[in-house]
Amino acid sequence: MRKTIRSPRRLRGSIEAPGDKSISHRAAILNAIAEGEAAVESFQGGADCLATLRCLRALGVKIDWDGQGTLRIQGGGRFGLRESADVLNAGNSGTTMRLLAGLLAGQSFFSVLTGDASLRSRPMERVVEPLRAMGARIQGRAGGARPPLAIEGGSLRGIRYRLPVASAQVKSALSLAALYGEGETLLEEPAPSRDHTERMLRAMGVEILGGDGLRVSPPQRELTPLSLRVPGDISAAAFWMVAAAVHPDAEIRLAGVGVNPSRSGIIDALAGMGASITLEEERMWGCEPVADIVVRSSSLRGTVVEGSLIPRLIDELPVLAVAACLAEGETIIREAGELRLKESDRIRTTVLELRRLGASIEEQPDGMVIQGVGCLKGGACGSHGDHRLAMTLAVAGLLAQGETVVRGAEASSISYPGFWHHLEELSSY
Ligand code: S3P
Repeated sequence: MRKTIRSPRRLRGSIEAPGDKSISHRAAILNAIAEGEAAVESFQGGADCLATLRCLRALGVKIDWDGQGTLRIQGGGRFGLRESADVLNAGNSGTTMRLLAGLLAGQSFFSVLTGDASLRSRPMERVVEPLRAMGARIQGRAGGARPPLAIEGGSLRGIRYRLPVASAQVKSALSLAALYGEGETLLEEPAPSRDHTERMLRAMGVEILGGDGLRVSPPQRELTPLSLRVPGDISAAAFWMVAAAVHPDAEIRLAGVGVNPSRSGIIDALAGMGASITLEEERMWGCEPVADIVVRSSSLRGTVVEGSLIPRLIDELPVLAVAACLAEGETIIREAGELRLKESDRIRTTVLELRRLGASIEEQPDGMVIQGVGCLKGGACGSHGDHRLAMTLAVAGLLAQGETVVRGAEASSISYPGFWHHLEELSSY
């Protein structure tokens, strides 16, 4: 699907971003192994989260949801999953594959996990190696480095493990396996990554100790089901934050967005560039903080994005690059080599596609260097099948002179099914 975008005269309005993708996956997976029913409001209906539901249903979990309203999930307890008669297909979703690999390693049955061409090319040794150290039997292509993964579930033991990269998917996979291991698992990260799994497990009654790392032990009791309202996805809201901060006549309110500190790096980065962003009505939805975020037209200046900020805004870096193109001066993004291992090589694809729109942007092994150019020029560009790139290019189109055509625009439905509708709603021509 191609979408044609022109810069609107004004960007105005209030929208609710879709439910947070990371929290939706976890709400389904963790409640699937709790004992009893949970109600999940604002579950995200993008293709990635639907892949998680499909896999859980194939594992015998009862889930009642037609894509609207409250999702109800009936957990059968920690040992309530059943062997799937078929291969489990995670589609495009790395979170589905990695979290389920951790969960399935501790079951008493056999599972096979696969995905689409993009997911089958992504690295799995980061979960397979530590899971094997816990006693898991996992085979896969390239010695277990690439899907499909075949998992012969069985008994596990706790380990002490230092993650080589800050990755919430790895941390969560190992935490799930730790629920089935003998003894404690101690996980140490080079920098803090998103902590939704820990928050949710604690709220479900699992004792998780912090301090020098994360300590997870198999619980003495079954997990308590956790009903929740999923906060709006800050990674989706980020597209409108950048659009509003850069557009000369904009004011956008993003209602009920998750502002967990392990995810809110985009707010810090944009505010540091001079964006007018205010958080209103800060409150808690269960164990997660949310706020209404108001963003207005601003003049941005270049910045440096590195270190512990990177895991706090890793998925927002492509759209932050658009803000950098339209800021004054130079922006440097470094220590972000993980971007190459996402749904596309996001350093290569972001540089390639933004250049088509007149950006002055240079590829680095672990990031990009961007010179502010004052304005972008509409042109033809493509998503490479990557949802975040499709939406990044749409935002670039909203801010560029002339007409922009985004090929592969349908990729946005992986994480933001209503994206194009919201774009129309916020734009006045
Ligand atoms: C996610 C963690 C991040 C992020 C991804 C979602 C999660 O990946 O990029 O979109 O839900 O745990 P890594 O754990 O590989 O950094």
